Amino acid sequence: MGSHATLTVPTPERMGRLGRELAALLRPGDLVLLSGELGAGKTTLTRGLGEGLQVRGAVTSPTFVIARVHPSLVGGPALVHVDAYRLGGDLDEMEDLDLDVSLPESVVVVEWGEGKVERLSEDRLEVRIERALGDTADEDDLDPRRVVLTGVGPRWTGVALEALA
Ligand SMILES: Nc1ncnc2c1ncn2[C@@H]1O[C@H](COP(=O)(O)OP(=O)(O)OP(=O)(O)O)[C@@H](O)[C@H]1O
Ligand SMILES: [Mg+2]
Repeated sequence: MGSHATLTVPTPERMGRLGRELAALLRPGDLVLLSGELGAGKTTLTRGLGEGLQVRGAVTSPTFVIARVHPSLVGGPALVHVDAYRLGGDLDEMEDLDLDVSLPESVVVVEWGEGKVERLSEDRLEVRIERALGDTADEDDLDPRRVVLTGVGPRWTGVALEALA
């Protein structure tokens, strides 16, 4: 049995904070799979992860590259940020990305990776982000997100994801 949590995240700032808090749970070798429609907040969450992990460089939407490596500034794991949106097939091609980094020593975060990267690791944290209010969200500039975290595999057994709430 994996661990599980559902959170409501009211603002982009809070999404960043969730990323920073989540970073504290992450270890070298972890795979985080982010899903959700365009503009859901995947990169915003990843930016918070980068802050929490204290890595170098701004986490942005990698428009021209599929993956970007952010080395740690503090001797911790690097953040490998993958945008698999334009990637066909599945990421056996992870080697093909030719990253100058050791994945077992990094935290790998993949946007749009569903169905493409699961077999990189039997253990993974799946994060699904959706608009909590759907199309009714335009009042008060508030556009909260529902974030569903699911830890898959032995690595995540017993990890208290619900403490992130
Ligand atoms: N509650 C919220 N949580 C996260 N982002 C929010 C929230 N409310 C509004 N936003 C806005 O939604 C946008 C999310 O953009 P972001 O680039 O993080 O999405 P994405 O899922 O990475 O999109 P893409 O699929 O294009 O990569 C930002 O402009 C952010 O400010
Ligand atoms: Mg993005």
